[in-house]
Amino acid sequence: MLLRVKNVYKSFGGVQALDDVSLDVNKGAIVGVIGPNGSGKSTLFNAICGFCAIDKGEILFKGDRIETLPPYEIARKGLIKSFQICRIPERMTVLENMLLVPKDQIGESVIGAFINRKRYLVQEESHKKAAVELLDWVGLKGYANEYAGNLSGGQKKLLVLARILMAKPEMILLDEPTAGVNRPLANKLMTVIRSLGREQGFTFLIIEHNMKIISSVCHNCYVLDCGKVLAEGNPVQVQQNEKVLEVYLSSSHTRKHAEE
Ligand SMILES: Nc1ncnc2c1ncn2[C@@H]1O[C@H](COP(=O)(O)OP(=O)(O)OP(=O)(O)O)[C@@H](O)[C@H]1O
Ligand SMILES: [Mg+2]
Repeated sequence: MLLRVKNVYKSFGGVQALDDVSLDVNKGAIVGVIGPNGSGKSTLFNAICGFCAIDKGEILFKGDRIETLPPYEIARKGLIKSFQICRIPERMTVLENMLLVPKDQIGESVIGAFINRKRYLVQEESHKKAAVELLDWVGLKGYANEYAGNLSGGQKKLLVLARILMAKPEMILLDEPTAGVNRPLANKLMTVIRSLGREQGFTFLIIEHNMKIISSVCHNCYVLDCGKVLAEGNPVQVQQNEKVLEVYLSSSHTRKHAEE
């Protein structure tokens, strides 16, 4: 088990945003989280990543308790949420954006770069190679020397994903990755996520309103409603669950997305 959320509670004033939530994610799995607006999905992600302190419960990553750790330590353990590195400097090229990510660069200090010049150049070359490979993977290799500001909204999301991968996380949390992205690019994003899971063993936890997208990429999904886990199972089982149909599909907003 890579991630285990055990009986987690979180309230904001009178709102019980998470009410005894438990969830498990195996290594290499792609797990979906769905539910109507305000059901606690983003709060759950914030709790997992350390952005929101929980009131009660346990969160374990690779067997270690993480619920009291600050976000940067959780990220360092290999658990990263998409927006943590989604600010894209627009006046830099796509490739330069990618090269901002690796943390342990010797070249970060001028003196270090001077003393270790040869090592620095080798390291820079290997980062560049990794960056170009990842850009190729997400379909942006042809845009490597383009200003990031010139990319479309969907292409920027692909760049965010590629930048996350530069940090070599073990697990990636994506909060509505296809929101505001046109259908062909949303499909492309999902194809990339699916192949990253299958071929490279990355683990994903994804919040997504679109049921078709969940069905096409997720092995397993959890349905939240009013802060509680209403159902869990493979996307087909979950879509047939009566409680889910009642609650999830009765929300007009969600129905609109689910039917898309
Ligand atoms: N920082 C906060 N302060 C006060 N209330 C909050 C805060 N964050 C979330 N909430 C409340 O907690 C509940 C769950 O919100 P959350 O954002 O987790 O829902 P969600 O499932 O992500 O919804 P959506 O699909 O609209 O993104 C809501 O009632 C929301 O108003
Ligand atoms: Mg949300």
